[in-house]
Amino acid sequence: MAEPEDILIALEAILAGPSEALVNLGGLKVIVTAGGTREAIDPVRYIGNRSSGKMGHAIADEAARRGAEVVLITASDLPAHPAVKAVRVESAQEMADAVAGVNADVAVMAAAVADFRPAGSSSEKLARTDGPPEVRLEKTPDVLAAVVARDPRPFVVGFAAETGSAKQGWLERAVEKASRKNVDLLIANDITEPGAGFGVDTNHVAIVFPDGRTEDWEKAPKTEIARRLWDLISQQMALPR
Ligand code: CTP
Repeated sequence: MAEPEDILIALEAILAGPSEALVNLGGLKVIVTAGGTREAIDPVRYIGNRSSGKMGHAIADEAARRGAEVVLITASDLPAHPAVKAVRVESAQEMADAVAGVNADVAVMAAAVADFRPAGSSSEKLARTDGPPEVRLEKTPDVLAAVVARDPRPFVVGFAAETGSAKQGWLERAVEKASRKNVDLLIANDITEPGAGFGVDTNHVAIVFPDGRTEDWEKAPKTEIARRLWDLISQQMALPR
Protein backbone atom coordinates (compact mmCIF):
# COMPACT_ATOMS: atom_id res chain seq x y z
CA MET A 1 0.00 0.00 0.00
CA ALA A 2 1.14 3.57 -0.65
CA GLU A 3 2.51 5.55 2.29
CA PRO A 4 0.06 8.08 3.85
CA GLU A 5 2.40 10.98 2.84
CA ASP A 6 2.31 9.85 -0.80
CA ILE A 7 -1.51 9.64 -0.72
CA LEU A 8 -1.66 13.16 0.76
CA ILE A 9 0.62 14.58 -1.94
CA ALA A 10 -1.42 12.88 -4.67
CA LEU A 11 -4.66 14.29 -3.18
CA GLU A 12 -3.16 17.78 -2.96
CA ALA A 13 -2.16 17.58 -6.62
CA ILE A 14 -5.68 16.56 -7.64
CA LEU A 15 -7.37 19.18 -5.45
CA ALA A 16 -5.05 21.95 -6.67
CA GLY A 17 -6.22 21.21 -10.22
CA PRO A 18 -4.71 22.79 -13.28
CA SER A 19 -3.39 26.25 -12.48
CA GLU A 20 -1.76 28.94 -14.51
CA ALA A 21 1.51 27.95 -12.85
CA LEU A 22 1.13 24.40 -14.22
CA VAL A 23 1.66 25.68 -17.77
CA ASN A 24 4.69 27.71 -16.79
CA LEU A 25 7.35 24.96 -17.01
CA GLY A 26 5.69 22.68 -19.57
CA GLY A 27 8.23 21.06 -21.90
CA LEU A 28 11.16 21.80 -19.57
CA LYS A 29 13.43 18.93 -18.52
CA VAL A 30 14.62 19.33 -14.95
CA ILE A 31 17.10 17.47 -12.74
CA VAL A 32 17.02 18.09 -9.00
CA THR A 33 19.49 16.52 -6.56
CA ALA A 34 18.47 16.31 -2.91
CA GLY A 35 19.39 14.90 0.48
CA GLY A 36 22.64 14.07 2.16
CA THR A 37 24.77 11.32 0.67
CA ARG A 38 26.02 8.45 2.85
CA GLU A 39 29.52 7.12 2.33
CA ALA A 40 30.04 3.59 3.61
CA ILE A 41 32.75 2.76 6.14
CA ASP A 42 31.54 -0.85 6.42
CA PRO A 43 28.15 -2.58 5.81
CA VAL A 44 26.76 -0.97 8.99
CA ARG A 45 28.35 2.46 9.31
CA TYR A 46 28.61 5.48 7.10
CA ILE A 47 29.79 9.08 7.01
CA GLY A 48 26.77 11.31 6.50
CA ASN A 49 25.46 14.81 7.07
CA ARG A 50 22.39 16.52 8.52
CA SER A 51 20.59 17.29 5.24
CA SER A 52 16.96 16.09 5.27
CA GLY A 53 16.23 16.60 1.57
CA LYS A 54 13.22 18.86 2.34
CA MET A 55 14.44 21.82 0.24
CA GLY A 56 15.35 19.70 -2.81
CA HIS A 57 12.10 17.70 -2.66
CA ALA A 58 10.06 20.92 -2.40
CA ILE A 59 11.85 22.27 -5.50
CA ALA A 60 11.25 19.06 -7.47
CA ASP A 61 7.57 18.88 -6.42
CA GLU A 62 6.97 22.52 -7.39
CA ALA A 63 8.53 22.04 -10.85
CA ALA A 64 6.30 18.99 -11.42
CA ARG A 65 3.21 20.94 -10.33
CA ARG A 66 4.12 23.50 -12.99
CA GLY A 67 4.30 20.86 -15.69
CA ALA A 68 8.06 20.23 -15.99
CA GLU A 69 9.45 16.75 -16.63
CA VAL A 70 11.32 16.22 -13.37
CA VAL A 71 13.93 13.64 -12.40
CA LEU A 72 14.74 13.87 -8.70
CA ILE A 73 17.97 12.14 -7.72
CA THR A 74 17.73 11.88 -4.00
CA ALA A 75 19.56 10.47 -1.02
CA SER A 76 16.51 11.22 1.16
CA ASP A 77 13.62 8.89 2.06
CA LEU A 78 11.03 11.68 1.81
CA PRO A 79 8.13 11.09 -0.61
CA ALA A 80 7.94 12.92 -3.93
CA HIS A 81 5.05 14.32 -6.02
CA PRO A 82 3.52 11.52 -8.14
CA ALA A 83 4.59 13.25 -11.36
CA VAL A 84 8.25 13.34 -10.26
CA LYS A 85 10.51 10.49 -11.35
CA ALA A 86 12.42 9.80 -8.14
CA VAL A 87 15.71 7.92 -8.34
CA ARG A 88 16.89 6.86 -4.87
CA VAL A 89 20.65 6.83 -4.31
CA GLU A 90 22.94 6.54 -1.34
CA SER A 91 26.47 7.70 -2.13
CA ALA A 92 28.03 10.61 -4.04
CA GLN A 93 29.21 8.12 -6.69
CA GLU A 94 25.67 6.74 -7.16
CA MET A 95 24.35 10.31 -7.39
CA ALA A 96 26.99 11.24 -9.98
CA ASP A 97 26.20 8.13 -12.07
CA ALA A 98 22.44 8.74 -11.92
CA VAL A 99 22.78 12.43 -12.88
CA ALA A 100 25.11 11.56 -15.79
CA GLY A 101 22.35 9.51 -17.40
CA VAL A 102 19.76 12.30 -17.45
CA ASN A 103 19.39 15.08 -19.99
CA ALA A 104 18.21 18.44 -18.66
CA ASP A 105 17.49 22.07 -19.49
CA VAL A 106 17.75 23.02 -15.82
CA ALA A 107 19.73 21.37 -13.01
CA VAL A 108 19.07 22.34 -9.41
CA MET A 109 21.79 20.85 -7.24
CA ALA A 110 20.28 20.98 -3.76
CA ALA A 111 21.95 17.82 -2.42
CA ALA A 112 24.48 17.95 0.37
CA VAL A 113 27.04 15.75 -1.35
CA ALA A 114 29.85 14.39 0.82
CA ASP A 115 33.16 15.85 -0.32
CA PHE A 116 35.12 12.86 0.98
CA ARG A 117 34.46 9.13 1.35
CA PRO A 118 36.35 6.31 3.03
CA ALA A 119 38.92 4.98 0.57
CA GLY A 120 37.94 1.33 0.12
CA SER A 121 35.11 0.57 2.55
CA SER A 122 35.29 -2.74 4.40
CA SER A 123 33.00 -5.54 3.17
CA GLU A 124 32.94 -6.91 6.72
CA LYS A 125 31.64 -5.14 9.80
CA LEU A 126 34.55 -3.60 11.69
CA ALA A 127 34.70 -5.13 15.17
CA ARG A 128 35.04 -3.10 18.33
CA THR A 129 37.45 -5.71 19.64
CA ASP A 130 39.89 -4.81 16.83
CA GLY A 131 40.14 -1.30 18.27
CA PRO A 132 39.47 2.08 16.62
CA PRO A 133 40.00 1.84 12.84
CA GLU A 134 41.99 4.33 10.85
CA VAL A 135 39.67 5.64 8.13
CA ARG A 136 41.54 7.17 5.20
CA LEU A 137 39.42 9.49 3.07
CA GLU A 138 39.42 10.21 -0.65
CA LYS A 139 37.60 12.80 -2.79
CA THR A 140 34.13 12.09 -4.20
CA PRO A 141 33.12 13.07 -7.75
CA ASP A 142 31.87 16.66 -8.12
CA VAL A 143 28.34 16.18 -9.47
CA LEU A 144 27.72 19.88 -10.08
CA ALA A 145 31.01 20.40 -11.95
CA ALA A 146 30.13 17.58 -14.38
CA VAL A 147 26.78 19.25 -15.15
CA VAL A 148 28.40 22.68 -15.61
CA ALA A 149 30.88 21.09 -18.09
CA ARG A 150 28.09 19.72 -20.34
CA ASP A 151 27.74 21.03 -23.87
CA PRO A 152 25.08 22.30 -24.32
CA ARG A 153 25.07 23.37 -20.74
CA PRO A 154 21.84 23.43 -18.72
CA PHE A 155 20.86 26.38 -16.53
CA VAL A 156 22.58 25.40 -13.28
CA VAL A 157 21.49 26.34 -9.76
CA GLY A 158 23.96 25.55 -7.00
CA PHE A 159 23.48 25.54 -3.24
CA ALA A 160 25.85 26.61 -0.51
CA ALA A 161 25.28 25.75 3.15
CA GLU A 162 27.74 28.04 4.88
CA THR A 163 28.83 28.82 8.41
CA GLY A 164 31.32 31.54 7.70
CA SER A 165 34.80 31.43 9.15
CA ALA A 166 37.17 33.64 11.07
CA LYS A 167 38.51 34.89 7.71
CA GLN A 168 35.28 35.33 5.75
CA GLY A 169 31.54 35.87 6.44
CA TRP A 170 29.09 33.25 5.08
CA LEU A 171 27.68 35.48 2.34
CA GLU A 172 31.12 36.55 1.19
CA ARG A 173 32.07 32.86 0.96
CA ALA A 174 28.90 32.21 -1.08
CA VAL A 175 29.67 35.01 -3.55
CA GLU A 176 33.16 33.60 -4.07
CA LYS A 177 31.67 30.09 -4.47
CA ALA A 178 29.14 31.20 -7.11
CA SER A 179 31.95 32.51 -9.26
CA ARG A 180 34.29 29.55 -8.63
CA LYS A 181 31.52 27.02 -9.45
CA ASN A 182 30.40 29.04 -12.50
CA VAL A 183 26.69 28.60 -11.72
CA ASP A 184 23.76 30.62 -13.06
CA LEU A 185 22.33 31.10 -9.56
CA LEU A 186 23.56 30.15 -6.10
CA ILE A 187 21.18 29.67 -3.19
CA ALA A 188 23.12 30.30 0.00
CA ASN A 189 22.28 30.13 3.65
CA ASP A 190 23.86 30.44 7.05
CA ILE A 191 23.15 27.05 8.62
CA THR A 192 23.94 28.30 12.12
CA GLU A 193 20.81 30.50 12.05
CA PRO A 194 17.79 28.90 13.81
CA GLY A 195 15.00 27.99 11.35
CA ALA A 196 17.31 27.95 8.33
CA GLY A 197 18.97 25.03 6.63
CA PHE A 198 19.16 21.39 7.65
CA GLY A 199 16.14 19.44 8.84
CA VAL A 200 13.68 22.31 9.46
CA ASP A 201 10.62 23.28 7.38
CA THR A 202 11.70 26.89 6.87
CA ASN A 203 14.73 28.49 5.29
CA HIS A 204 16.34 31.90 5.11
CA VAL A 205 18.36 32.17 1.93
CA ALA A 206 20.30 34.71 -0.07
CA ILE A 207 20.45 34.48 -3.83
CA VAL A 208 23.78 35.12 -5.53
CA PHE A 209 23.65 36.20 -9.19
CA PRO A 210 26.48 35.61 -11.69
CA ASP A 211 27.58 39.26 -11.46
CA GLY A 212 28.06 38.89 -7.69
CA ARG A 213 24.88 40.76 -6.81
CA THR A 214 23.01 39.28 -3.84
CA GLU A 215 19.35 39.32 -2.82
CA ASP A 216 18.19 38.46 0.69
CA TRP A 217 14.90 36.54 0.83
CA GLU A 218 12.92 36.72 4.05
CA LYS A 219 12.61 33.52 6.11
CA ALA A 220 9.79 31.37 4.68
CA PRO A 221 8.57 27.77 4.45
CA LYS A 222 10.72 25.71 2.07
CA THR A 223 7.64 25.17 -0.16
CA GLU A 224 7.34 28.97 -0.55
CA ILE A 225 11.07 29.32 -1.31
CA ALA A 226 10.64 26.63 -3.98
CA ARG A 227 7.83 28.66 -5.62
CA ARG A 228 9.88 31.87 -5.58
CA LEU A 229 12.88 29.99 -6.95
CA TRP A 230 10.98 28.67 -9.98
CA ASP A 231 9.60 32.17 -10.64
CA LEU A 232 13.18 33.47 -10.55
CA ILE A 233 14.59 30.67 -12.74
CA SER A 234 11.82 31.27 -15.33
CA GLN A 235 12.68 34.97 -15.28
CA GLN A 236 16.45 34.42 -15.58
CA MET A 237 15.97 31.95 -18.45
CA ALA A 238 13.46 34.34 -20.04
CA LEU A 239 10.90 31.54 -20.36
CA PRO A 240 7.58 32.55 -21.89
CA ARG A 241 4.92 33.01 -19.18
N1 CTP B 1 28.21 19.47 -5.01
C1 CTP B 1 28.18 18.41 -5.89
N2 CTP B 1 29.08 17.38 -5.76
C2 CTP B 1 29.99 17.39 -4.76
C3 CTP B 1 30.04 18.46 -3.85
C4 CTP B 1 29.12 19.49 -3.99
O1 CTP B 1 27.33 18.41 -6.78
N3 CTP B 1 30.83 16.36 -4.65
C5 CTP B 1 27.27 20.60 -5.19
C6 CTP B 1 26.24 20.79 -4.09
O2 CTP B 1 25.05 20.07 -4.37
C7 CTP B 1 26.02 22.30 -4.12
C8 CTP B 1 27.35 22.86 -4.58
O3 CTP B 1 28.04 21.79 -5.22
O4 CTP B 1 25.04 22.66 -5.06
C9 CTP B 1 28.22 23.45 -3.53
O5 CTP B 1 28.47 22.49 -2.54
P1 CTP B 1 29.52 22.77 -1.42
O6 CTP B 1 29.67 21.51 -0.59
O7 CTP B 1 29.16 24.02 -0.70
O8 CTP B 1 30.85 23.02 -2.31
P2 CTP B 1 32.33 22.75 -1.96
O9 CTP B 1 33.11 22.76 -3.21
O10 CTP B 1 32.42 21.53 -1.11
O11 CTP B 1 32.71 24.03 -1.14
P3 CTP B 1 33.62 24.25 0.13
O12 CTP B 1 34.80 24.99 -0.42
O13 CTP B 1 32.78 25.09 1.04
O14 CTP B 1 33.97 22.90 0.71
